[in-house]
Amino acid sequence: MSRVSRSVMTLTNYTWFLVSILLPISTFSFISIFPAPQPRFSPLYSSFVNGFEVGKDVDPLAKWDEETMSGPLGPRADKLFLETFRRSLAASNLRTPESYPPGYDGMIEMVHETLRTATTPEVVVAKSRATLNSLFPNFPPAPPFSSRAGLLYWFEVLFAKPFPAFSSKMNAWVTWWAAQWLMGKSELDNLTVEPGTNMVGDGRNQLLQIKRCRYLESGSCASLCVNSCKIPTQQFFNEDMGVKMRIIPDYKTFECRFEFGVEPTEEDEEEARAVACISGCPNPKSKDATVKCGD
Ligand SMILES: *[C@@H]1O[C@H](CO)[C@@H](O)[C@H](O)[C@H]1NC(C)=O
Repeated sequence: MSRVSRSVMTLTNYTWFLVSILLPISTFSFISIFPAPQPRFSPLYSSFVNGFEVGKDVDPLAKWDEETMSGPLGPRADKLFLETFRRSLAASNLRTPESYPPGYDGMIEMVHETLRTATTPEVVVAKSRATLNSLFPNFPPAPPFSSRAGLLYWFEVLFAKPFPAFSSKMNAWVTWWAAQWLMGKSELDNLTVEPGTNMVGDGRNQLLQIKRCRYLESGSCASLCVNSCKIPTQQFFNEDMGVKMRIIPDYKTFECRFEFGVEPTEEDEEEARAVACISGCPNPKSKDATVKCGD
């Protein structure tokens, strides 16, 4: 064999070496350097609910009808609660309740205004929490170092701290008793949690199951659900009353779980935010039903 042909063979072998060993390695490193584009939502948003799925599994029988339905205290008490709520909400927008349309729809309009005028979602959360606080009297008077309403302060000292399980059950019951006009038909049920989750109490009657949340459905806005209900209500119970609880909405059915005796987690919040803006949002970041709502 001539020297020339030997070197050609060596070169061929060398080329094969390059192709068979180095090419896969370099391709692999190239892919690692330039990873495939990540999906828009991290695995945390695996349960992302797009705009077409919102409300698709509602129970038609669970719809709240103001004419025929009322909470356990009757329609007059419901109306009184509504008017009290309207006064507080209007005041937080620096207006009077009369300057809005009447009834529940007018109340939703107040919340939409709060959402529309707020510079950040945190402002909505803070305003809504303050509204909840304003519904309670400063009696017995709270000590001067507390900024909370007296009733809430003393509830924590006298009940929530010494009797946490009792307080969880009692608050589940009071919410069932007083808030059906706001959220629709609800039932008390036994709460079971995943192993490893801390729960105060045995779970009995610590779950308030809302069948078809009227507030979410009428407000028709994910941001309204998260920033004017879920987060401020959790802060209200956990921090202002000292009662552990978390809220888990289901955007496909408009069901909602109020779990008393369990603390909220970051995941709960991410999950609740993993939804498209719904048609009624005052400032939807995007009308695209497949994109997560900005706030
Ligand atoms: C809750 O559990 C108790 C027993 O611990 C049982 O008697 C009761 O029927 C349960 N309630 C519901 C609504 O399932």
